[in-house]
Amino acid sequence: MMKKIGILTSGGDAPGMNAAIRSVVRTAVHHGLEVAGIRDGYNGLVSNSIQNIGRGAVANIIQRGGTILGTARSDEFQSEEGMGRAKRTLEQNSIDALIVIGGDGTMRGAHEFSLKHGVRVLGLPGTIDNDLYGTDFTIGFDTAINNALEAIDRIRDTAASLERLFFIEVMGRSSGFIGLAVGLAGGAEDVLIPEIPTDIEALARKINENTKKGKKSNIVIVSEGDEAGNAFTIAEKVRDLIHEDYRVAVLGYIQRGGAPTANDRILASKLGFAAVEAAMRGESGFMVGEINQQAVYTPLAETYSKKKMIDPALYRIIEILAT
Ligand code: F6P
Repeated sequence: MMKKIGILTSGGDAPGMNAAIRSVVRTAVHHGLEVAGIRDGYNGLVSNSIQNIGRGAVANIIQRGGTILGTARSDEFQSEEGMGRAKRTLEQNSIDALIVIGGDGTMRGAHEFSLKHGVRVLGLPGTIDNDLYGTDFTIGFDTAINNALEAIDRIRDTAASLERLFFIEVMGRSSGFIGLAVGLAGGAEDVLIPEIPTDIEALARKINENTKKGKKSNIVIVSEGDEAGNAFTIAEKVRDLIHEDYRVAVLGYIQRGGAPTANDRILASKLGFAAVEAAMRGESGFMVGEINQQAVYTPLAETYSKKKMIDPALYRIIEILAT
């Protein structure tokens, strides 16, 4: 019978991870289970850095960004020796099942751990990038796009006042979910994302036409993973064609921090709850996500090997609304 669940957060921190930790702990305690909090992602398993956490330890964290458990991108865990030590840690601490919260690297680690060492493990999608297959939204994405949007709205004030062209770079690693969402919600003139090839000449023409039409501001959102380069290189290429002055703003880590939105807290709470119940049923090797408001269990390997597609309809709406 299952008695103790281990929980860790891994990879880039994402707002809502704390809400997920709280949900796992409170649900587990409700069912009479113990929870072991593992420090700094998989590193804490390798180094046996573990502390039991009760319901009081997760009080007052639902509204906090980051992760109280700490996180890391662990190289050690990826070695055979490191993974072996992680397995011994689970045994020493009598941890029956593991719940990991993170992005694609986290799911990959969890999958390998379960395959090589027979560990019972469930994943929760926690990344601002929203690039995990098997869930409509990842925990942290909604907060990140709202953070970015706040910054974009402010920059729009300057762009309109000075009638200036802005290139705003957003995160997303190799996917354009953040770019597309903030492009639409921020009324951007164009959005460059890795999933759609960037045509610099067409972009330059569009900006030129916008200026001729009397548009007061031009904001181009650049996803950091765009194949045409970063916001600075793309801006220079455009300037070489149309000789228009511009400014670049890289939003960076502002997007990743701060209090999670209601949507992220709700998603994290629902998924944490579902993960504990799935673990109690003896399920393992899945990521618990949500599709059309229903909990969905996707094999860990699929979450990082299958490509989650952007919705091309959004791109078309942005184009039409920006004309
Ligand atoms: O995966 C989340 C993310 O913020 C990406 O958008 C970004 O590319 C990456 O992490 C940055 O990673 P790090 O903080 O490890 O440099």
